[in-house]
Amino acid sequence: MIKKEIPFTVEIYATSEELTIADATLLASARAITSAAYAPYSNFKVGAAALLSNGSIVTGTNQENASYPVGICAERVLLSTVASQFGGVGIITMAISYDNLKGESKHPISPCGICRQSLSEYEERTNQPIRIILSGLGGEVYIIEKAQQLLPLTFSLLDIK
Ligand code: THU
Repeated sequence: MIKKEIPFTVEIYATSEELTIADATLLASARAITSAAYAPYSNFKVGAAALLSNGSIVTGTNQENASYPVGICAERVLLSTVASQFGGVGIITMAISYDNLKGESKHPISPCGICRQSLSEYEERTNQPIRIILSGLGGEVYIIEKAQQLLPLTFSLLDIK
């Protein structure tokens, strides 16, 4: 038996003021677009903004439904938009933020497991690492260099070939 460490590195910034202008701008877009979320059930409005390899910026928000499982997270709304409208284009960076109408929005958001799986596959199929910027409307900002880091031992298309 051997034990293997799988490294996970996160950069932690005290506030968005410590970010580069490009990252701060993308995070500002994610924070702003939270207001477009449709989240009448959770009151947890999530906004995502992506910088594409062609220079475009695309945004997405969570869209809930009275039939709860029908709802879709902001990250996957965004990935579907990019895949459909900019087919094959890589995502350089995705910023994700939230407005918690029931509480504070100071702690960095953590993408759900389904979104981690989707992000990982988009990264793989476009052969472009996706940098992930996580934050609330204020407070600390986490940056992860590659979405796949959020999901060690990922089940991927390589497993079913
Ligand atoms: N949600 C997202 O859109 N992204 C995440 O990373 C976490 C959760 C949404 C799903 C649901 O509409 C609401 O937030 C509460 O879970």
